[in-house]
Amino acid sequence: MIKDDFNKFEKRIAVTGGAGFIGANLLLYMVPKYSQYLFVNIDCLTYAGNLLSLKSIESDQNYRFEKIDICDYNAVENCINKYDITDIIHLAAETHVDQSISNPAKFVATNICGTFNLLELVRTKMEKRRCLRFHNVSTDEVFGTLDGPGKFTEESPYRPNSPYSATKAGADYLIRAYNKTYGLNSIVTNSANCFGPFQFPEKLIPLVIRNALAGKPIPVYGDGLNIRDWLYVEDNCRAIDLAFHNGLSGKTYNIGGRNEIKNIDLVKRICRIIDDTHSDEPGEPREKLIAFVKDRPGHDRRYAIDPSFIETQLGWQTEYSFDDALVKTVKWYLNNLEWMESCINGRYLKYYEETYTNR
Ligand code: NAD
Ligand code: DAU
Repeated sequence: MIKDDFNKFEKRIAVTGGAGFIGANLLLYMVPKYSQYLFVNIDCLTYAGNLLSLKSIESDQNYRFEKIDICDYNAVENCINKYDITDIIHLAAETHVDQSISNPAKFVATNICGTFNLLELVRTKMEKRRCLRFHNVSTDEVFGTLDGPGKFTEESPYRPNSPYSATKAGADYLIRAYNKTYGLNSIVTNSANCFGPFQFPEKLIPLVIRNALAGKPIPVYGDGLNIRDWLYVEDNCRAIDLAFHNGLSGKTYNIGGRNEIKNIDLVKRICRIIDDTHSDEPGEPREKLIAFVKDRPGHDRRYAIDPSFIETQLGWQTEYSFDDALVKTVKWYLNNLEWMESCINGRYLKYYEETYTNR
């Protein structure tokens, strides 16, 4: 397809990190919904990117995949020119807190320098056509930890505690500066812990499911009393869609599901859901597999998001109750064990080579 053909699309949106957990869910939600937009998935396929998640849309006329590292300025520039990109929804990032503790360098490279590359491209190369919208998908972890009552609002100060959250905060600050200094049309959404299909099994919920099924110890950090505020990924995707379209430039929007739960209670709940679905099998309750292990250094105690602003300003509401979404999620993993294993055994990369490199 030549460039002019791409111009038939009303918007040409680059979605970075579209092969990851939230990115894939977002594309699965938006590509069928907006046939008038072209979606270009820019992802370098780190261990966390899995194109098998996107199988159902890979041949859609308004979807393209480009294997590009956002740290490679020239490659991103070529891609922006090739598709005449009009908007960017930026999700590409290193995202696992534990990895940021053992290997912070790649977090600085992708989350800060990669974001800076995108912003510079928008500023210097897209200026004439204007970037209609730069939407940064960020996290509640930039606010640090809540040790008492209260919730994070859009006015809460940034107090990141891990290398991961510090690099996400750095990216948010750069976006703020480009909005104030250069007039970048920007939106930042700071969301709570997401869960749902296609999450890499290093994160708590899929990890618990995988270990529980394999009869392996289920590691719970510290005393297990840390609290996270969980959000079903599809609810986050609808919030991103709304903020991308209707959010006010320069604003940030907190997204959360008002679902605070202690880690230990969540882990037990998942074990019980699996026990119930395997009730015909004899054996010990799976919560017997729980093993309290050494705590994560700098482990934030509690996160809680106040989503009132996006609710009142943009009319967003969660559609899923936490209980229903958790059961739905656990069942999804039980029915998609092959997908989960493809993350671990590298089959997703083989799939990429077979599907894309011969095109
Ligand atoms: P993920 O780790 O599942 O996926 C990240 C994706 O980015 C992968 O496909 C990976 O290949 C890609 N990527 C990484 N480095 C890249 C690079 N240099 N160039 C191109 N692609 C690269 O992450 P996720 O959980 O889907 O998170 C997506 C975004 O949402 C991140 O920015 C994260 O900080 C943010 N976020 C996540 C959560 C959550 O609970 N998962 C909550 C709030 C915010
Ligand atoms: O809050 C949003 C953030 O949620 C996102 O910005 C991050 O990208 C995402 O990874 C997630 O960060 P967390 O550190 O909260 O997620 P994780 O799944 O790693 O851990 C959730 C909680 O469970 C946390 O308190 C640590 C604990 N935990 C985690 C793992 C992997 C355990 O107790 N055992 C484990 O094995």
